[in-house]
Amino acid sequence: MKAALADEDGVLLDNFMRESVEPAVSGSTVAVCLINLTAGELVVSNLGDSHVILAERDPKTEYPYHIV
Ligand SMILES: *[C@@H]1O[C@H](CO)[C@@H](O)[C@H](O)[C@H]1NC(C)=O
Repeated sequence: MKAALADEDGVLLDNFMRESVEPAVSGSTVAVCLINLTAGELVVSNLGDSHVILAERDPKTEYPYHIV
């Protein structure tokens, strides 16, 4: 997880530093969701102002997703 976040940070810095400095210096935020369907486990982590919302498809309503 640490390596994946470091890789993503490098990609963001590379891309944004060429076009605009603002996104690269405006702070840090991340939301991570790990799901193990075999074990029935859901682990959510967030840093900064990122959030995770759990939703499920509900074919009985007019809305495509139902926020759980
Ligand atoms: C998911 O859960 C199963 C059952 O507990 C476990 O055997 C497996 O190693 C888990 N997968 C991961 C990626 O942790």
